[in-house]
This record gives sequence, structure tokens and C-alpha cells, in this order.
Amino acid sequence: MTHILHRQTGHPYPVAAGGHGVCLRDDKGKEYIDASGGAAVSCLGHSHPDVLAAMHAQLDRLAYAHTSFFTTEVAEELADVLVADAPEGISHVYYVSGGSEAIEAALKLARQYFVERGEPQRRAIVARRQSYHGITSGALSVGGRPLQREPFEPLLFRTHHVSPVYEYRERRADETPQAYGERLARELEDKIEELGGDTVIAFVAETVVGATLGAVPTVPGYFRRVREICDRHGILLILDEVMCGMGRTGTLHACEQEGVSPDLMAIAKGLGGGYAPIGAVLMQDRIFRAIAGGSGAFKHSHTFMGHPLACSAALAVQRVIRRDNLLANVRTQGSYLARRLNERFGNHPFVGDVRGRGLFQGIELVADRGSKRPFDAARKINARVKGEAMARGLMVYPTGGTVDGTLGDHVLIAPPYIVDAQIIDAIVERLGDAIDAATA
Ligand SMILES: Cc1ncc(COP(=O)(O)O)c(C=O)c1O
Repeated sequence: MTHILHRQTGHPYPVAAGGHGVCLRDDKGKEYIDASGGAAVSCLGHSHPDVLAAMHAQLDRLAYAHTSFFTTEVAEELADVLVADAPEGISHVYYVSGGSEAIEAALKLARQYFVERGEPQRRAIVARRQSYHGITSGALSVGGRPLQREPFEPLLFRTHHVSPVYEYRERRADETPQAYGERLARELEDKIEELGGDTVIAFVAETVVGATLGAVPTVPGYFRRVREICDRHGILLILDEVMCGMGRTGTLHACEQEGVSPDLMAIAKGLGGGYAPIGAVLMQDRIFRAIAGGSGAFKHSHTFMGHPLACSAALAVQRVIRRDNLLANVRTQGSYLARRLNERFGNHPFVGDVRGRGLFQGIELVADRGSKRPFDAARKINARVKGEAMARGLMVYPTGGTVDGTLGDHVLIAPPYIVDAQIIDAIVERLGDAIDAATA
């Protein structure tokens, strides 16, 4: 009998008792390859000695100091590292404890920026269908996952949604990827013009769509056009790199591959690698200056922001990534993972698409490859894949609702950056068996 309201009541969760490298172990001694890093979190795997040592040292020095009284060396150092490697123009960091908090803070910072500048008429947020930006009310208002929004709809603020980039299903046969991206950019601009460009605060998007679509990258030129459109209307571009950022796609920030710099960027999962709850908003200097030269305070705060222990974990994670040149490994092993997935599933009767970037790969499951017809949602194929994978000692991240929020299934694979070819072979083999068993 448990006293926890678990994610699913009645589900018998195994007890995680230990972890090392790419594996987690339950209290019965069974090992699981953590091929999804939980939910694309554990970028260095488990029990990394350098991260543990840094956290122990920080605990011995200082566990907590409230940010209305003090700053700390570790928080300052981490901000220096993040800004040094940030996209062009980013000058400051705002700390939070996770992805949803990062999005909440980014939305409010964007609004306050315009209030400080004397543009209080800007109140609209535009985001994309089939996106996930977090679970708190503001983040949920912006997100485009109908089933998650539904019970809370009366509590959400109104946002406006345009199409995501989802080539597999939504690019027309007679369209090049570039033309498809152009069509989507035009749709965004039409929406902005319909709302009135000077009433819009921000456009919010995941650079590579994570949990909702399953590691779906953008098409060439799309984000450049989005950047131009936002600039033309004075609208902020908020990129959500909570899942796809911090090295997951092979560059520290996914937007580097798009050649754009956002006004605000939310990061979280891979920032602390699961060693502590931490997220952050990275901001352009002009946003910092609008606050600093205006009211002097962002009207937003959390008790645990800039927590020294969380900052020490994140600082250690970021140092290990740089010291061990792990982004190169993400690129090398990411290509190998994509190749092995294509070999195993390229002709699989129930796999319609393999996509992704770096160690952020997704496969979309379909009942019929030719027509791309999804499985009947009642079959809960994604949950079955998860169960079959766990039974085989494999953690992957399957989700349903890929096509429209209800129909469709995909599996996200996001192993730690320390993975090697042998582990990838084991992941693909076990995943293949799990999918075969789940779809049989
Ligand atoms: C893209 C994206 N944004 C925001 C969030 C919310 O982060 P958290 O669960 O840490 O609140 C997630 C979580 O999966 C995410 O994938």
C-alpha cells in the first residue's frame, strides 16, 4: 500500500534502487538500460562520480541561501558558463527548478518586457498545435496537447495555435521541405496579422518537438523565416529547449543548427542531468536591460530558484560535457543510433517513420505503412511497448496522440551522451523485440 498519488494509480511501479552509467537497477536487482534518460533528462547517465563529488562538496559548503538575501558563487559560475556558450546576444540567466517553471517565467518575462517598454497592449501568445511546454497553468495554456488541456480548459488563458512542423504527415507530396517550411511560416504570419502584430507578445515553439510528436526536427529555413516574421512585428521568439536542448541534438542548443538566436530560451532537463531539479531561462541583453533600466525587478520569483546544490549539479554536468567532448559523442553515436534504427525498423510493417537529431530519435508506429493509418487508440500500443520494453530491461519513452492528440503512437529514444555502439546495439535489439511483442 502506497501513500503516494503516483502518476497512474494502481500501476505497480518497480522500485528504483540504484543506478550506474547508462543503467538503472530495481530493488529486485533487475537492470534496465536507460535508453530515454527518463524523459530525456539523464544526459550523463547515473551516479557520475564527478557530479556526485561536486554536489557533496557543495553540500559541505552550503546547501541553501534564499536569493532575496544572497547570491552564491556556484550560481554565478554556472550563469557565466551558460552565457559564455549561449546563442548570440544572450547575456543573462534566470534560474528555476524545472521545465514548466522555465516556460512560466519566460512568458511572464516577455509580457513584463513589453510593459516596461510602454507596450501594454501586447497580450497575445502564439504557439503550435501538438506541442508540450509543461504542466503548470501558463505552460499548459500555451501547449497544444488537447487531452492534457481538456479538464483544465476553463482555467487556462487564451492562446493561438498554428501548425507544427511535422513532415511525415503534413508535408504535401508535391512540396519540397523548404516550400513546406515557407507555407508554415506564412501561416504564422497570417495568424499574427489577423491578431494585429502589435498585440502579440511572443511566438513559442520547441526547436525539435519532443514528447508530443517524438523527436521531430524542423525543415530547412523554417526558423529563419520565423525569426524574420517575429522581428518584423516586434514579437519575441521563445524557444522551448527544455527537452531538445543542452546537447541532446548534437549541439549545445538545438537552435544553433537553425542559425537563429531566440529572445528567450527555456532549458531544463539536460541542464542538471537529473542530479537535481533545475531549469533556466536564457535572455537577450535587451530584455535584461528593459527590466534593469525600468522597474529594476522581474515580478516573479520562487523560493528554490538558484538553489546552490542544484546549481552545483548543473555546473558539474556542464563541465563534464565540455571536458569529455561529449557533444562529439552525441553526434557520432546519434548517427549510429539513427542508422541502426533505420536498419531494424526501415521495413518494419508497423513503423512508419524514423526521425530525430543526435541522441534524440523517434519512431512513429502505424497500423498500415502505406496509408500511415495509426493504430486504434484503444489498443494503447504505446503503453504496451513501454511495458514490453521494461520487461526486457529497457527504458524508452513511448507516447500516444501523435497524430492529433488522440490517435497515433511513437517511441522516443534519448540515451545518455556517454552511450557507445555496443549499448546502442542492445537498445535497438530490445526495442525491436518489444515492438514486435506489443504489435503482435
Ligand atoms: C519541451 C518541454 N517543455 C517543457 C516541459 C516541462 O518540463 P517539466 O516537466 O520539468 O516541468 C517538458 C517536459 O517534458 C518538455 O518536454
